[in-house]
Amino acid sequence: MPNLLVVGAQWGDEGKGRVVDHLARDASHAIRFGGGANAGHTLVVDGRRVVLHLIPAGALQPGCRGLIGQGCVADPLALCGELDGLAAAGIPHQPDRIGVSPLTFVVTPFHRALDRATGAAIGTTGRGIGPCYADKVARRGLRLGELVDGAAADILATQRAHVAALRPELELPSVEEALASLQPAAQRLAPYLADVTGEIEAAMRRDEVLLFEGAQGAGLDLDFGSYPFVTSSHTGAGGVCNGVGLWVDLHRRVGVLKAYATRVGHGPFPTEDHGAAGDHIRAVGREVGATTGRPRRCGWLDLPALKAAVRWSGLTDLVVTKLDVLAGLDEIPVAVEHGPNGPRYQHFAGFGDITGARTWAELPAAAQALLTFIEASLSTPIALVTVGAERGAQIPLRPLP
Ligand code: IMP
Repeated sequence: MPNLLVVGAQWGDEGKGRVVDHLARDASHAIRFGGGANAGHTLVVDGRRVVLHLIPAGALQPGCRGLIGQGCVADPLALCGELDGLAAAGIPHQPDRIGVSPLTFVVTPFHRALDRATGAAIGTTGRGIGPCYADKVARRGLRLGELVDGAAADILATQRAHVAALRPELELPSVEEALASLQPAAQRLAPYLADVTGEIEAAMRRDEVLLFEGAQGAGLDLDFGSYPFVTSSHTGAGGVCNGVGLWVDLHRRVGVLKAYATRVGHGPFPTEDHGAAGDHIRAVGREVGATTGRPRRCGWLDLPALKAAVRWSGLTDLVVTKLDVLAGLDEIPVAVEHGPNGPRYQHFAGFGDITGARTWAELPAAAQALLTFIEASLSTPIALVTVGAERGAQIPLRPLP
């Protein structure tokens, strides 16, 4: 049975959660392999809006267990808050439905303080992600299992001293205060600790469908994104094996892209539209950050950037989301190359309301022309197009998995 990968092909917020939710119907496990609560998956389930940050979106499907791999960073307080949020939305989640690797690194109050003090230059989400990964690499990281076992004080003291030396002006909690805030959450999470690597290995032996759920997008990858305006983890196919602790043959590699482009935070965005069309997309597409509430920068598809994303994750399929948001525009520019004077665009005709379309034939010719051009330019087939926020508002074009 296939192992599926779903990754963002742009700068995050492509609508991966929605796609994962759809694919997880057939999967035994949905697995996060990188990132933390900087991600934000917004899903509309039975009319209720559910926002997930670290819990895999696939875990909303009753038959799918959500796993958080060692490549992720976990803020225990935020994770408990997510469990509470799910319960409040009438979706209770028990340890038999979600597992977290004890090897996952803990986002501590010191990381959050440092990120809030230093992240503005990049425009980070302020969730402590970068400082947590930096401590991991610097070998003073704290693993969730160590926090649960109570062996955390020395490591927290080292982290605190590091932040205090960097930023003496910051008012940091004491180690005791940090422990007092973290430990109740860690105790609550203790039943969720799981041998993620072993579970994946066993599920692969049983020939089950495994869904590897990417966070953020290609342009935000630590190594391949627009460094330094990136997140601190690996967002593409390359992140999977390290993030879950074993070799995984990814049979279908699905890249999700919006029919336009958005970016939050700073950094290059050559196809950004500062005019009325950008405002239109922001308003109609409700382009506001799910994690931070920041308005997203909006613009046009960037084919050269997408080609890089296809190559890097070896994408076998594309999913184009939010095509309906483009309805009502007179024309739709698509960047086909970058030159010394900026992107060169090819312009496509606009189209009207498509939210009721459920088949290719029901799409207007102008929308078909745009999709056909994307597919041909990226030499990768489109498997699914979404045309509205509800679960069923989509047009399947190629079977997945
Ligand atoms: P950090 O991940 O909070 O360190 O933020 C680094 C950069 O990644 C900033 O530009 C953020 O806006 C961006 N970023 C992080 N997570 C997401 C996401 O889930 N969607 C979109 N952008 C994100």
